[in-house]
Amino acid sequence: MEDKIKALNERLQNAYLGGGEKRIEKQHNNKKLTARERVNYLLDEGSFEEIGVLVTHRTKDFGMANQQYYGDGVITGYGTIAGRLIYVFAQDFTVFGGSLSETHAEKICKVMDLAMKVGAPIIGLNDSGGARIQEGVRSLGGYADIFYRNVQASGVIPQISAIMGPCAGGAVYSPAMTDFTMMVQDTSYMFVTGPNVVKTVTNEEVTSEELGGASTHSTKSGVAHVTSVNDIASLEDVKQLLSYMPQNNKEKPRALPYELGEELRDNLSAIIPDNSNKPYDMHEVIKGIIDEDSFFEIHKDFAENIIVGFARLAGESVGIVANQPMYLAGVLDVNSSTKAARFVRFCDAFNIPLLVLEDVPGFLPGTDQEWNGIIVHGAKLLYAFSEATVPRVTVITRKAYGGAYDVMNSKHIGADMNFAWPCAEIAVMGAKGAAEIIFKKSIAAAENPEEKWLEKEAEYAELFANPYSAAERGFVDEVILPKDTRRKLIKAFAMLKNKDTKLPQKKHGNMPL
Ligand code: HXC
Repeated sequence: MEDKIKALNERLQNAYLGGGEKRIEKQHNNKKLTARERVNYLLDEGSFEEIGVLVTHRTKDFGMANQQYYGDGVITGYGTIAGRLIYVFAQDFTVFGGSLSETHAEKICKVMDLAMKVGAPIIGLNDSGGARIQEGVRSLGGYADIFYRNVQASGVIPQISAIMGPCAGGAVYSPAMTDFTMMVQDTSYMFVTGPNVVKTVTNEEVTSEELGGASTHSTKSGVAHVTSVNDIASLEDVKQLLSYMPQNNKEKPRALPYELGEELRDNLSAIIPDNSNKPYDMHEVIKGIIDEDSFFEIHKDFAENIIVGFARLAGESVGIVANQPMYLAGVLDVNSSTKAARFVRFCDAFNIPLLVLEDVPGFLPGTDQEWNGIIVHGAKLLYAFSEATVPRVTVITRKAYGGAYDVMNSKHIGADMNFAWPCAEIAVMGAKGAAEIIFKKSIAAAENPEEKWLEKEAEYAELFANPYSAAERGFVDEVILPKDTRRKLIKAFAMLKNKDTKLPQKKHGNMPL
């Protein structure tokens, strides 16, 4: 028996070395942790249980029969994060560059299947040269097996992808179909076709970083939801992100212990400038409402005219969607609509209540927006809110103009509680523009048109640039003092906790994609 135990231990020691000391050193020199180090850092100490540590590939071509590494370039298994069961796979770049073989894919599929059967999140740590070139179509089939499972798992268990190295070719589509794609600055990149192919096809000269680095995907394409400075920071971000989510779509997120106090926040009263055309930072409003330091922003540097992210309110997890007057006056446009729609759908799929903070002057006008399909993209956000059945509460902090009033979680599309601050302006459009249109003739005929215009603008503002018309009709449930907002929201979400609304029976809706 002793011999057998020794033989097993030797195999395991071999497996733990992945592609060997030299390649591990290269990985470290490239400022990357190894797959095993990543898994150990991500999971609670000592909790990792590996599955398939002794798997090897089955390829004989190209001299591969003599190149066998236990694990075949991916570490798979389960463990806990803050005591919660999590399934994980981490591609090991030291073995064939983390490339995906048939067996590598089978290992990933095995943990995905277990995660689905049990109902627990799956986290993928990607660091791979793509399809195992020596395997041809078997590798492509392996990718498709994973893609298929990503889609089956979508909306059932949370799926998080951290890109911690290369992720190229069709391989990008697995992370793209998970709920969140996180990237590490300088050491990760994602693209469908790399710089060489780009040069051949379009004659463009571009580096990997410019084409698909973390900064590109966090600012230009929106592919990356979160960017972190290094591997450790990225793994910390994964843990924090996960803390707002439930284990699966049948559960609610876990609340942190919280003891209620008076919950008034005087500093909320001083944020909105007297001049309603002046910007302010909606982050200040968020900060004033939520539990201290609990905000985790998603898509921070993309479509900054809307802010989305997770926070806690009296210990409970909430998803926040907020217009940002500091950026493009907080208008809705193509990117901000898509960004917010995707976030709303995630929260709805996983029973995370939605809080909307609204200050929106309307949709962004112009040929750029129209030609890029603001109609269909704006409709995504309208659709996402309208189908969301989680508790939904809106606070109009200032402007709620035009179609954007309807879209931003209005009462009409199913919001449960709608509050407005006394400085709210809820109307078809701004008073100046409105006066110009409806009083065009009397302004033109006036002795002093400028004066007349101002007079009519004031008349319109008096009637509509306030929250009271909406409150009189019950479109707004209550006009509240800014300092009371946190208290009101805690109560509203507590009241809505057992909300149980179902959509009409259907196979699926036809969201405007
Ligand atoms: C097999 C691979 C590999 C691959 C890398 N390696 N990619 N082995 N299949 N796809 C091996 C290398 O031979 C090397 O082995 C080790 O991994 C590390 O690679 P290096 O090139 O030394 O590393 P580095 O200089 O850091 O460059 C990394 C890289 C480069 C940029 C990823 O390796 C590369 O360009 N690889 C090929 C990428 C690619 O074209 N993949 C196919 C994409 S198409 P040794 O033994 O020396 O350590 C695709 C389709 C998917 O993925 C479709 C899904 C639907």
